[in-house]
Amino acid sequence: MPPLSAQERESLIAAARQALQRAYARYSNFRVGAAVLTEQGETFVGCNVENASYGLTICAERSAIFTAVQSTKAPRLSIRAVAVVNGNDVPCSPCGACRQVIFEFGENAVVIFKGQQGYQEMAIADLLPESFRLS
Ligand code: THU
Repeated sequence: MPPLSAQERESLIAAARQALQRAYARYSNFRVGAAVLTEQGETFVGCNVENASYGLTICAERSAIFTAVQSTKAPRLSIRAVAVVNGNDVPCSPCGACRQVIFEFGENAVVIFKGQQGYQEMAIADLLPESFRLS
């Protein structure tokens, strides 16, 4: 897959921002939106959904990926890129659990997130070296 164009990257961030509006974050007040771009060019979004039993919370990234798994027109999900944004506009990279799930569906996926100096892109393999594989 070619590197993401500036336009693809901006559209993915915009989709994640849109998804952020649906975040259900009444306990942490930390709203997160994510958008997944598949290798076929489809986009799927998700937001964080919290629960009074805190541990049941799902992150925006996994919410988007699980939607993509069931909605992609491809025989199986192949992630090209994931963008994640938050309502506080603070640096926020995907948590460890989400990194593992991103890797499952896109070993070469690119992750776009807010770093210390604005949005940055990193390969999932660099964000999660030695990811778990069942073999
Ligand atoms: N959260 C995400 O949605 N994605 C991340 O990568 C990190 C954390 C959510 C979970 C919880 O609803 C809130 O942010 C605070 O942890």
